Amino acid sequence: MTVIGTRPEIIKMSPLIPLFDSEFSHLLVHSGQHYSPSMDSVFFEELKLRKPDYVLESGGLPPADQTGAIMRGVEKIILAEKPSAVTVHGDTNTTLAAALAAAKHREHVKAIIHIEAGVRSFNRTQPEELNRVLVDQAADILFIPYEHDRENALREGIPDNRIFVTNGNTVLESAIRTASIADSAAICGKYSVTPRNFAIATFHRQESVDSPEILSGICRAMTEISDLIPLIIPLHPRTEKRISEFGIKLEGSRLMPVPPIGYIDMTGLLQNARFCMTDSGGLQEEAAALGTPALVLRNETEHIRYLKSGLHRLTGIQTETIVREARRLIDKKPDTQSIEIKSGISVSILEAIVNFLK
Ligand code: UD1
Repeated sequence: MTVIGTRPEIIKMSPLIPLFDSEFSHLLVHSGQHYSPSMDSVFFEELKLRKPDYVLESGGLPPADQTGAIMRGVEKIILAEKPSAVTVHGDTNTTLAAALAAAKHREHVKAIIHIEAGVRSFNRTQPEELNRVLVDQAADILFIPYEHDRENALREGIPDNRIFVTNGNTVLESAIRTASIADSAAICGKYSVTPRNFAIATFHRQESVDSPEILSGICRAMTEISDLIPLIIPLHPRTEKRISEFGIKLEGSRLMPVPPIGYIDMTGLLQNARFCMTDSGGLQEEAAALGTPALVLRNETEHIRYLKSGLHRLTGIQTETIVREARRLIDKKPDTQSIEIKSGISVSILEAIVNFLK
């Protein structure tokens, strides 16, 4: 049984779900955490995913309530269906709730499988960091994207024989596959931009948008940057809510705030953008896969390999620093330098699971 429920889980699990379907008697459960068509069903359609077998209701609830609702729902399904393995992905409330529900039913669940385990921001005030640490403790198999993250899990007392390093994240497969079918000219035309002469930005993490000071600082940076280059900003529902609640202005003559966009448009824009600015983990990896420089609007990141390669830069959240870094990328001749991506990441995950369950 696989439990997903948010936009990044749908995208990042999309290469694995068909593989699980063909190998196992496999149930797909949607937690309902994300529910708007633009945050949910558009990705099922574009990534050609089959419908979930169960859909729970948990969207829009406060975090503990949401986690509880997903735990209760997943528990019921486990009791009815008796899955021998439960797979979760990443670091969301869905991930934590499903892993905990599975851990309470060891009479059925022999393996809790955690994909994108082991990566750390080392900032436990972030809900995602704590979710990931806790799920790693409950998991029997940890699929860790890169070798340098193995140490994080070992330091937390996880035995080495539970760890499987995948040498890449499944999101790289999703991004490359989707970018290859995206019609760049049509997508750039739809947003009235020309290749390499625009930037794209997203910010939605609680630590970026839940504080009026931080959010208004980021928005001010976006306004200033849009004087230098056309700037598309797909707005996550959380960001849009906070901007209107706090009465913040996100304006600029060449600034285009748009509702959340689908994956084909996103990868199409990303591969043509001069650079992107983001606090999202997934987008950092997608940008790297497509050779687009990224400014990471955070004080720390789990994805340090792209910083080391120089493709990405950590800007922090100060307006002046963000604008200075953007200016550097605008003034500089654009250079696209894709990272090396190992093929068959999902297939190697599947093989490891089959071996583990033998
Ligand atoms: C969640 C994840 C975050 C991930 C993000 C991707 C946790 C702790 N956080 O944050 O790690 O990066 O998803 O998007 O699980 N909303 C809608 N429609 C939707 C989804 C959400 O309107 O389809 C609204 C909700 O009602 C809520 C807000 O957006 O008010 C936040 O949604 P929530 O699921 O609580 O967390 P995210 O901020 O999306």
